[in-house]
Amino acid sequence: MKISLSAATLDKSIADIVAVAVPSAKTKFNKAIGRIEAVTGKGSIKPLAVDERFEGKASQTLKVAAGGRTKARWLLLVGIGDETDTEKVAWSLGHALASAARAQKTAAVELPKVTVKSVRAVSQGLIAGAYRYTEYKSDKKSSAGLTSALILEAPKAGRGLAAAIKTGRSLAESVNFARDLVNRPPNDLNPITLARAASSESRKLGLTCSVWNKSRIKKEGMNLLLAVNAGSAIEPRVIHVTYKPRGAKKKVAFVGKGLTFDAGGLCIKPAASMIDMKCDMAGAAATLGIVFAAARLKLPVEVHAVVGSTENMTGSQAYRPGDIYKSLQGKTVEVINTDAEGRLVLADVLTWTARKLKPDVMIDHATLTGACMVALGPWRAALYTDDDSLAKSYLAAADTEGEAFWRMPLDEDLKSKLKSPIADLKHIGGRYGGSITAALFLEEFIEEVKWMHLDIAGPAFLESAHGRLPKGGTGFGVATGVRFLENLK
Ligand code: BES
Ligand code: MN
Ligand code: ZN
Repeated sequence: MKISLSAATLDKSIADIVAVAVPSAKTKFNKAIGRIEAVTGKGSIKPLAVDERFEGKASQTLKVAAGGRTKARWLLLVGIGDETDTEKVAWSLGHALASAARAQKTAAVELPKVTVKSVRAVSQGLIAGAYRYTEYKSDKKSSAGLTSALILEAPKAGRGLAAAIKTGRSLAESVNFARDLVNRPPNDLNPITLARAASSESRKLGLTCSVWNKSRIKKEGMNLLLAVNAGSAIEPRVIHVTYKPRGAKKKVAFVGKGLTFDAGGLCIKPAASMIDMKCDMAGAAATLGIVFAAARLKLPVEVHAVVGSTENMTGSQAYRPGDIYKSLQGKTVEVINTDAEGRLVLADVLTWTARKLKPDVMIDHATLTGACMVALGPWRAALYTDDDSLAKSYLAAADTEGEAFWRMPLDEDLKSKLKSPIADLKHIGGRYGGSITAALFLEEFIEEVKWMHLDIAGPAFLESAHGRLPKGGTGFGVATGVRFLENLK
């Protein structure tokens, strides 16, 4: 989709469809409708809005035939509720427009205020909203969507608006890259092909990507990762992408859970819980999406993405409940339930990242626990860290990007649940506080590094679209991670 700036106004627009914001507050609603009817003709919108119960509420939209003085064919009225933040409104407009316009080719959008921030946001919304997963559809054309979008009443030169379009696009494309990886079926996306996808994207962006095969992983001593891999016919991979701009003062390492399929291992999942388990590499996808976006935006921060990838299967060599393995960190771990595999993979990768990269901050993304969804619902991720200022800045970044997180406690009391009678640690802590005990387990492996754990089991993959998040793989976490990096001082 081509996005460009246009000096044209609503009545001069010749696009197939034009998006306009409509607030919900009574007086503002009437004023907005009045302003649109000044172009489309008196009484052309209001009766229809009443009939369709369109009240300008957030996430409400109304598509009407334009007519009147405008050359556009359709208008899309986008409810924005009582949102006044022009950046958020712009994002919603772009997103609503691109998702609604499947049959139209050209679009235009009227922003309440044209600024660098709002132009960036509308571009991001447009590219993210146009996302469809079509890799396996023979007929890709029928869901092709918009080919061009104009931002109305925008000066073409100066003020950095063209650069803002590029930024918004790069960001959304990184989110979409993560979505594609999550949506790709697990017969085609395995640890080996995931590593290839990371390498080829790294090559395009001029980043270094090192990939470890099984024998290298053995040499490094990642026995927990190897235990999880034992039941799979496909080798594991550790993938490490580095973005190191000259003069960077801060170093941030992102770590991702890359289970390309989680059958549960010998403690096998019931069919209904297994169906979506291709999504168990969404943490890896987010991690890669962030480092690629950082490179595209040329952020002045050193960023690493380290991914531990394997399947969790039931082959005859599969690891068993009762097994004990020595982690890379040195602690021995008693396996209780082979379906709690993610924390084992992450434990070794976190230790390696902390020791070898010595980052200023280490942040992991993982579809780690069903318990997290029990606690927070399907659309919100859990955030764990001991560092108050890190939590605060991450939550602020998430708010700007419209992604929902909730800080959860690393409750010391629950540590007792991870005691094993015969090893240093058990890897699960029982039913209650399951997301917390998983986080506490990870904490045993982070060495002395400042760390944050994000359990994205809920929002990483959705049965149906919700707000900004599409059905299927959502790319959740990418936008917030990048915004956090941008805000770093
Ligand atoms: N990958 C799952 C967690 C998950 C569940 C992600 C639903 C996305 C949607 C994880 O490996 C798992 O199976 N966790 C178990 C842990 C339990 C055995 C302690 C769970 O949450 O049931
Ligand atoms: Mn599992
Ligand atoms: Zn899993």
